[in-house]
Parts: sequence; C-alpha cells; structure tokens
Amino acid sequence: MSSLWFLLFLPLIFHWNEVSSSYAGSASSIINPSKVKQVSWKPRAFVYEGFLTGLECDHLISLAKSELKRSAVADNLPGDSKLSEVRTSSGMFISKKKDPIVAGIEDKISAWTFLPKENGEDMQVLRYEHGQKYDPHYDYFTDKVNIVRGGHRMATVLLYLTNVTRGGETVFPVAEEPPRRRGLETNSDLSECAKKGIAVKPRRGDALLFFSLHTTAIPDTDSLHAGCPVIEGEKWSATKWIHVDSFDKTVGAGGDCSDQHESCQRWASLGECTNNPEYMVGSSDLPGSCRRSCKAC
Ligand SMILES: *[C@@H]1O[C@H](CO)[C@@H](O)[C@H](O)[C@H]1NC(C)=O
Repeated sequence: MSSLWFLLFLPLIFHWNEVSSSYAGSASSIINPSKVKQVSWKPRAFVYEGFLTGLECDHLISLAKSELKRSAVADNLPGDSKLSEVRTSSGMFISKKKDPIVAGIEDKISAWTFLPKENGEDMQVLRYEHGQKYDPHYDYFTDKVNIVRGGHRMATVLLYLTNVTRGGETVFPVAEEPPRRRGLETNSDLSECAKKGIAVKPRRGDALLFFSLHTTAIPDTDSLHAGCPVIEGEKWSATKWIHVDSFDKTVGAGGDCSDQHESCQRWASLGECTNNPEYMVGSSDLPGSCRRSCKAC
C-alpha cells in the first residue's frame, strides 16, 4: 500500500525538483520592487538601487576590458576584421549567454522590466573617461532600416558599474519634474550639466530604466537624454536596449523573399513599411506581405 502511495506522488516530486533546480541558478534574479524609485513619469523612468552586486559590476568591466584588448589586436591584423566588428567607437557588446553571470544579469533585467530577453540587444559596456560625454539623443530610431530588426527600441536599461566622483550623470533635459519626487538627488551633488534637467547620479550597482515609447507605442520625445561629461573619476556603464519585438530572430532568415501583393512597391514608397509594419514587414514567425519592397529580406 505504501509503495502505491509513493508512485502516486512520484511525478509531483520530480516536477518539484525540476522547478527548484531551474530557479537555483538565478537566485540573484529575485526582484524587490521596494528598491525602485520613480525618477519621472514624462518620460517613464525608474531607478533600481543595488540592482547589480559588486561582483557583477566588476565582471562586466573585466569582460569589456578583455574584449577591447582582443579587438585592438585584431585591428592590427590585416584581413581579419571579424573581431573588430563587435567594437563600436565607444564600447563593447557582450553576448547574452557569454557566461552564467551575464545570463543571470539578463534574467534579472527581464524580470524587472517584464520584457522578454529575446527583445533585447546584447548589452553594451561603455567606458567614459575625463571629459567624455554622450550628447542629448533619443534611443528610438527615426529611420525605417533600423526598426526592421525587432522594431523600435521601446525601453533602455542603464547599469552603472562604477561610482563617479563628479559628473557622468544621466540627464533628461526635457523631463517633467514629478510633483512628489522624494529627494532623489540633492542639487549640490550634481554637475552643471545635470542641473539642466532631471538627473540620475551614477552609483555602482544601480540601474536606470526608461521608456522611449509612450504606452501607445508612439515615440516619446520626453525621453531625450544625455550622459554628462565625467569631471572626476571614471565611469563604466552597461546599456541594454529593448525592442518591441524579438531582436534575436532575424527577419528574412528562411522563407523566400517576395512580395505577396502587386501594390507592395507603391505602398512601400508611400511609407507603409514604417506606418504599417505588421502587415508589410511582419515578423519571422509571421512574415509580412511586402518584405521584398520593404527591404526586410
Ligand atoms: C559608491 O557610492 C555609494 C554612495 O553613493 C557608497 O555607498 C558605496 O560604498 C560606493 N561604492 C564604492 C565601490 O566605492
């Protein structure tokens, strides 16, 4: 009799093991909403204090440093540009599954933002030295070529990997001060650049999340932001851009490249690839009807 009972519960026990083991690797991905402070509603921006551990910060910095070294070497080898492709003028991209620590950070970002990992680009680690800055800009695109893969960038997570003695704040110059802002920064801490809007001071381990699109999916011009010049110290940060659709699936992989309707070319010239991307371009799961004319394949 007792052995029968055991059989009855066996599947349950196995199932429980499965659940607990799949979560065991992401013990650090538990999100605590009480650590989140609202920065602004216009744009929607929030800071999570202590989002990354010191170890995670150091890990991202050292990965970027070794990638930089690798690509600097590759740049000097004639005919091998492959490595330097990942390098931009200002930073390094770290692939999502680079190692368990990176994967854990990816899990955490996804859990905090409620947005799927596949919608994110690879994290970009940036280093700013004295005087370096990032002028005011939007993270959403204004051209249709860039939105073919994954659609618009809808949200950005900025991870601060170091404390910066002075300067290096992220500033939203046209943001609207919320009526009950709970003293996020005292003004005297901030550089002149940061005083020109709502600013977030870089603190090692903190994460800033802001949205570049309104809830209606229309680009939010209030999301204009800048990285203030570093006045003293060194700033390392990591940026995660998250799109409205999957960034991992590349449109055009598989399937033929054709127009399904004779008016595709005309519609494309009228701007329908951007105005009506769901029908025109579609996704890799459900390809649109005018992928050829939209240059999506
Ligand atoms: C960074 O600054 C915060 C205070 O803003 C401090 O609590 C923390 O210890 C500093 N971390 C390091 C590594 O200096």
